[in-house]
Amino acid sequence: MKKPLIFILALLISFLNLSAQNELIVNAYHRNTISLNGQWKYIIDPYENGYYNYRYQPFDQQESPGAGAFFNNSKPKSPSDLVEYDFDQMDDILVPGDWNSQKKELLYYEGTVWYKKSFDYRIPQKAGRLFAYFEASNYKTEVYLNGKKLGTHVGGFTPFNFEITDLVKEKDNFLVVKVDNKRRKDGIPTLNTDWWNYGGITRDVQLIETSANFVQDYFIQLNPTDDKKIKGYVTLNGKDVQGQEVIIKIPELKITKKINFAADTRAAFEMSVNNLKYWSTENPYLYEVIIQTKEETIKDRIGFRTIGTSGSKILLNHQPIYLRGISIHEESPLRMGRGHSKADAKKLLEWAQELGCNYVRLAHYPHNEHMVRLADEMGILVWEENPVYWTISWENKTTYQNAECQLSELIARDKNRASVIIWSMANETPNVPARNEFLKKLAKYTRNNDPTRLISAALEQKNYKGNPTIRTIDDPFAEEVDVLSFNEYIGWYDGLPEKCEKITWKIEQDKPVLISEFGAGAKQGLHGNKNERWTEEFQEDLYIKTLAMLDKIDKIQGLSPWILVDFRSPRRVLPNIQEGWNRKGLISEDGTKKKAFFILNDYYKNKKYSE
Ligand code: GCU
Repeated sequence: MKKPLIFILALLISFLNLSAQNELIVNAYHRNTISLNGQWKYIIDPYENGYYNYRYQPFDQQESPGAGAFFNNSKPKSPSDLVEYDFDQMDDILVPGDWNSQKKELLYYEGTVWYKKSFDYRIPQKAGRLFAYFEASNYKTEVYLNGKKLGTHVGGFTPFNFEITDLVKEKDNFLVVKVDNKRRKDGIPTLNTDWWNYGGITRDVQLIETSANFVQDYFIQLNPTDDKKIKGYVTLNGKDVQGQEVIIKIPELKITKKINFAADTRAAFEMSVNNLKYWSTENPYLYEVIIQTKEETIKDRIGFRTIGTSGSKILLNHQPIYLRGISIHEESPLRMGRGHSKADAKKLLEWAQELGCNYVRLAHYPHNEHMVRLADEMGILVWEENPVYWTISWENKTTYQNAECQLSELIARDKNRASVIIWSMANETPNVPARNEFLKKLAKYTRNNDPTRLISAALEQKNYKGNPTIRTIDDPFAEEVDVLSFNEYIGWYDGLPEKCEKITWKIEQDKPVLISEFGAGAKQGLHGNKNERWTEEFQEDLYIKTLAMLDKIDKIQGLSPWILVDFRSPRRVLPNIQEGWNRKGLISEDGTKKKAFFILNDYYKNKKYSE
């Protein structure tokens, strides 16, 4: 295929992707919903036998796919009929939830599992619309209702929805979902990661009922350049949007703003506000915001604040703030596997607060919406990250579209959350031209979609002018970000803890510095001399020496050490110590705090901004 044709195809794919993702319904939890959580039937299908015929042609691209296609949920119609599967005789699996931690035989499984949920639906009298909404499913998801393909979603950590208004019946609907968590070289993330590849419908599934012309999306935030004004837009979705009127109300501020939809489906607005209580970590004040049309009313709780930088300072509501943080993976602190519930989020954020944090780095992918909504309530600032992790296929245009699509879904979902202050483009990616171009495009896309937040990424660092005792940031992407961040492992991967006493850092850019990671592994309960690796004393000593080293960086504005809790990783196989767990947590997987937890806690307790 000639180059131009490939380019046109890539553009078409990106448009299709963009148009599909632009249909995301925001504020999904506060709409008229019917939960489909609970027990689903499942079939393990490593050869994708329910998806491809024996000539490896997808059944869903054939006129009459026949009984072999699992999405038809076929049943024999006569004793002689040949049907070689039956969802209803299979075992149950819980949704939401990864399959690895629910089924022993699936702990390491990477491949396809089919899910089936049957449901009845009372079709409302009033004309409306119906969507199937998935908060997340890892990694490639194909969704079918009553044998019809609704669509495909790629990406394991962001929401998506499909309209089912014209397909749903009163009785015996069957929603069939094919989830394939195989890692892919050209995926986002790529083949290698330092976390468990949890597969499945890992977050909530619900039906969302909307009016015929509904409020699909809105962005309501303080004007980044004028904190006496709230601005944004509202997007309507429907056939009769023209001429609609939308009213935005913030009752406590006695604001009522009318917006008329002339031609487009999106309308911008700006309104002046007085006596606004700014959202902050000390006072995470949320306002009830009402968005009304003649057909429906949506309610949300939104905090208003500004976030910015000035030289090497991070400014929250124009005041410098030091980010006392911790990195967190999305694993449940209450059971094994992916976190997804409010209870999971509450426990993790309570541990972070107990540690003395006012900030969390949600690594290395978008966490569930409960985390950011709870952070809004608790006054905890948030770094959210797109899973552009390690060595991505930078030259692959579809890979870039995938990265941009996942980032757009994250921004769409969380752009009204005051707690979210940083969008991270990537983690520990190599400083090569194709990556620099890839990330630069992502950063540009992000600024266009959300000019109100800061951009960062865990950047590369190296010896300063070849001097092994001076470290500096060595990464052209440092010119593109608002906040400089990097992971450093002096004392763990790079020498021993005493090396921290010999290193100084020279940051040449006049921007704030966040240390996005440092840490050491320790098996909780293993004690010994501080020079014995894997003891709690070794980890404790590394924290003491690292904090002393980092304190000397005059532009440092915060930390998010690696990591709050031990987490599962197939890379970590040391017998008696790791056995499938990365042990850099300050808390063990059974909730026991290690000695280093208290070192960081003391450091944060005594950390006044001015230091
Ligand atoms: C890297 C990476 C983490 C990883 C950590 C480690 O910096 O960002 O994802 O888990 O180091 O090696 O423990």
